[in-house]
Amino acid sequence: MRHLLGIAGLSRESLDLILQNAEQLLDVSRRDIKKVPTLRGRTIINMFLEASTRTRGSFEIAGKRLSADVVNIGGNDSSISKGETLLDTARNLEAMAPDILVVRHQESGAPHLLAKWLKTTSVINAGDGMHEHPTQALLDALSLKQHFAKQDRGIEGLRVTFVGDIFHSRVVRSNMLLHRLLGNHVTLVAPPTLLPLGKAWQESYPGIKVSHSLSEGLEGADVVYCLRMQLERMSDFYVPTLNEYSREFCVSERWLTRYAPNCVVMHPGPMNRGTEIASDVADGPRSLIGNQVENGVAIRMAILYLLTQQEIKMEALNVAVE
Ligand code: NCD
Repeated sequence: MRHLLGIAGLSRESLDLILQNAEQLLDVSRRDIKKVPTLRGRTIINMFLEASTRTRGSFEIAGKRLSADVVNIGGNDSSISKGETLLDTARNLEAMAPDILVVRHQESGAPHLLAKWLKTTSVINAGDGMHEHPTQALLDALSLKQHFAKQDRGIEGLRVTFVGDIFHSRVVRSNMLLHRLLGNHVTLVAPPTLLPLGKAWQESYPGIKVSHSLSEGLEGADVVYCLRMQLERMSDFYVPTLNEYSREFCVSERWLTRYAPNCVVMHPGPMNRGTEIASDVADGPRSLIGNQVENGVAIRMAILYLLTQQEIKMEALNVAVE
C-alpha cells in the first residue's frame, strides 16, 4: 500500500518521476476535450474537513480529467459533525472500496493516522494542520522548474526566501523539505513571533538563514515566496496590528526592485492583498501565482496516477506505517 503523506522521506528519484509525469499531464488540461481514460473504474474520495478552494477544486478536477469516479465530502456534511471519529468515518468510507482517500484536516498527523489504520486505501495528505502540504510543494517545484528552464537553469542551487507567517505554515514546512532535497539556500523572514521556536527545529535544516528584516532577507533572492497570515490558526496576538505587520513585511515592487531585482514571486493562495503581498507584485511580470494554480491540477493528476500504478516502484511514497 502506498500513500503520499509528506515531502519528508521523498527521494530525488520520486520527485523527478512526479514532475515528469505532471509535465506530460499538463497537456490534458490544454485540450478541447479535457479527459483521458487512465483512471476509469477507480474511485477517489476527497475528504476536506477544512476550508479550501484551489487544493479541493484541483483534486476534483484532476480525478475527473483522469476519468475516475470522484466523491467529495466536506466538514459540515460529514458525520464527523454528529460526533463520529475521523477514523470511524474513514473506515466506513473504506468499506465502499475507494482506491484513494484525499484528506485535508486541521490537526497535524490526521492523514498519517488514517494511513496507519486503513487497509486497502491509499491516503493523500492535502494539508494537515501546521505540518505538511506535500502537493503544494510539488506544484511549486514544477512552477520553478518551468521558469528556470527558460534560463537554462535547473531548480538546484537556488536562493529561496519565504516571507510571512512561517510559524503556522504547512506550505513552508513541505517546501523547506523539498528545497533541502534539492540543495537550495533557504532564508526565512518574519517577525520573531511568527517563526518556530527552538534550536532543534533550526538544527534540522542545516544552513538555513533567519531574518527579521525584509530588506536583509530579500537580498539576492532568486525566489520570494509570500505566506498568508493564517489568522484561523492563531490563538493569540502575534503582531500588534495587521497594518503594522504589512508596513514591514508586505512584499511590494519597491522592495523587490531594490533588493532582489531578478526574483520571481510565489504565493500558495489565498492571498491577502496589501497584507503579505502588494498588487503590483501579485499581478506583475514576476508573479508565478497563476502558473502555480495551473500546475496544481497536473501535479495532482500525476500523484493520483502514480499511486494507482502497482508496477511503478516509488519507494519514497511507500511511507512505512507500523
Ligand atoms: C494553503 C493551505 O491551505 O495550507 N493554501 C493552499 O492550499 N493553496 C496556504 C494558506 O492557507 O495560507
